[in-house]
Amino acid sequence: MCGIIGYTTKKNNSVEVALAGLKNLEYRGYDSSGIAFSTPDGLKMVKAKGKISNLEEKLKSMDTTSSCAIAHTRWATHGEPNETNAHPHKVGKITLVHNGIIENYATLKKELIKKGYTFASETDTEVATAYIDYCFSLEKNKLQAIVNACKAIRGSYAFDIIFEDEPNTIYATRKDSPLIVGYSNEGNFAASDISAILAYTNKYTLIQEGEYARITSSVVTFYNENLQEISKEIKTATWDAAQYQKNGYDHFMLKEIYEQPKVVQDIFERYFDDCTYSDIDFTKFDKIHIVACGSAMHAALIGKYLLQTYAKIPVTTEIASEYRYSESLITPTTLLIVVSQSGETADTLAALRLAKEQGAFVVGIVNAVGSTIAREVNKCIYTYAGPEIAVATTKGYTSQVAIFSTLALNAMKQKGLIEDENAIKDELLSIKDKLDYTLSLRDTYLDIAKDIYNHNDLFFIGRGIDSAICMEGSLKLKEISYMHSESYSAGELKHGTISLIEQGTPVIAIATNDNLFEKTVSNIKETKARGSYTIFVTTDDHKDCHFEEFADKTIILPKTSDFTQAILDVASLQLVAYETAKLRDCDIDKPRNLAKSVTVE
Ligand code: F6R
Repeated sequence: MCGIIGYTTKKNNSVEVALAGLKNLEYRGYDSSGIAFSTPDGLKMVKAKGKISNLEEKLKSMDTTSSCAIAHTRWATHGEPNETNAHPHKVGKITLVHNGIIENYATLKKELIKKGYTFASETDTEVATAYIDYCFSLEKNKLQAIVNACKAIRGSYAFDIIFEDEPNTIYATRKDSPLIVGYSNEGNFAASDISAILAYTNKYTLIQEGEYARITSSVVTFYNENLQEISKEIKTATWDAAQYQKNGYDHFMLKEIYEQPKVVQDIFERYFDDCTYSDIDFTKFDKIHIVACGSAMHAALIGKYLLQTYAKIPVTTEIASEYRYSESLITPTTLLIVVSQSGETADTLAALRLAKEQGAFVVGIVNAVGSTIAREVNKCIYTYAGPEIAVATTKGYTSQVAIFSTLALNAMKQKGLIEDENAIKDELLSIKDKLDYTLSLRDTYLDIAKDIYNHNDLFFIGRGIDSAICMEGSLKLKEISYMHSESYSAGELKHGTISLIEQGTPVIAIATNDNLFEKTVSNIKETKARGSYTIFVTTDDHKDCHFEEFADKTIILPKTSDFTQAILDVASLQLVAYETAKLRDCDIDKPRNLAKSVTVE
């Protein structure tokens, strides 16, 4: 979703640095971009639809010598992606970039129109800009004007603001959208996340809600909303710039897929070396709610299966955008687990806040260190998967599944339900080799991609834990290859959807769950009898089964326990999706319309 970066420097390269930073925010998803920069003739503003390279092209013919710039990638919410709607927006004496959504913009707009303001764009952001300008016209103190405007604005925002008469100073504040301040010897930043500035500095401070920063090239001052100066800790980021490079891979997605063996192995090693969450007392909770969005929800479904089946705790899962508006029936003995790679997903954050208000103890499974969700949960379990740049999550998902495995083990241990922990430990710690093997079957995945890439519809079917795996496989395929794909519980297909199976319709059938293997095979035969082209995913313990009766192609993966099988299965489906998207010539790392960090509701 939108990315913002502001840079004010003692030198005159603010445009170059802001653009470089903006490119590192591309992964968040965007459809237009823009920049405003100070010049001796006042602030100049340039915007372009589409890629940042379009913006760069426009800037080429201009003198971009400047010591302060604010720049933005926009993921359209209010109004189509075009230059008028792109940020920065300028109204009166205020120029700003914004990430978030101003919910009461329509009311504020009416108020401002009555006061004589006119609007060029359809955006909520232009209204916020005008509102700050209006507050500034009443209250000449700049910080006070911003504070007053923020009190009237409802919604989420991270703002980088420049006042006309102070063109080399950036004012920054946030609510429900991320924003950090970064420090270097040559200048200072206010950006959506650390990836934007890591090439220049790893020193940063998180701006908290209700805090305001005044940033010049040499000094950063923080204030609370009473305009009292406050001191803030400067942190050092542990992620380095190299982690934001493709390192020889064609795509970030591919690189991140191949990082999974180490990421997952590290999680299991950390758990067995020093179980950092043995402090969650599972014996106190009689039910667990798991709340997340998208792939994180698919990881949650595996978590539900493991916690319920092995730790014997009733678990419900619900997508965050529904949970936050439903009757959640939280009691003092409810444990809420929220799952989020980015740690900034608006709906997940809202669900966690709601549950905390109702007295729940909230555990977060989060990748982005220091993110809002990580900070607000009662107990944060980091996946430490490292930065994930590709919009489609891969290592983010598998690391969440690995954490759920260790959580289930921990709960089992506390409840005296583990018989042979050493056997489980050996099996978990053998994941790296099995995952390496799974990822080595590239020819198989490419061969399958060639079979399916020019079809319009495809189905994933499976039962039990395999049906949760199907959901992730299907999402991965559709989001990066734009193929229509549906995931169905294999037993449910004949209650309607089987009418869509025609001669040659591809069906990817997953049967890695021993108890349900024969049942799934029966369901596959039902689709085969109606002409499906079947790709069968199973484990090597079934290799003597007569696949030729119902499968056109097979993927045979190493057999592991329920605690890790999903990781192998989904890794293979990630590569099927990747190869298919490549054959369809899609923008794999930045699929259309999608955003990496969904910071709006
Ligand atoms: C799919 C994908 C999304 C995210 C979802 C939640 O590949 O990446 O479905 O899983 O937007 O994001 P986080 O985990 O950051 O809360």
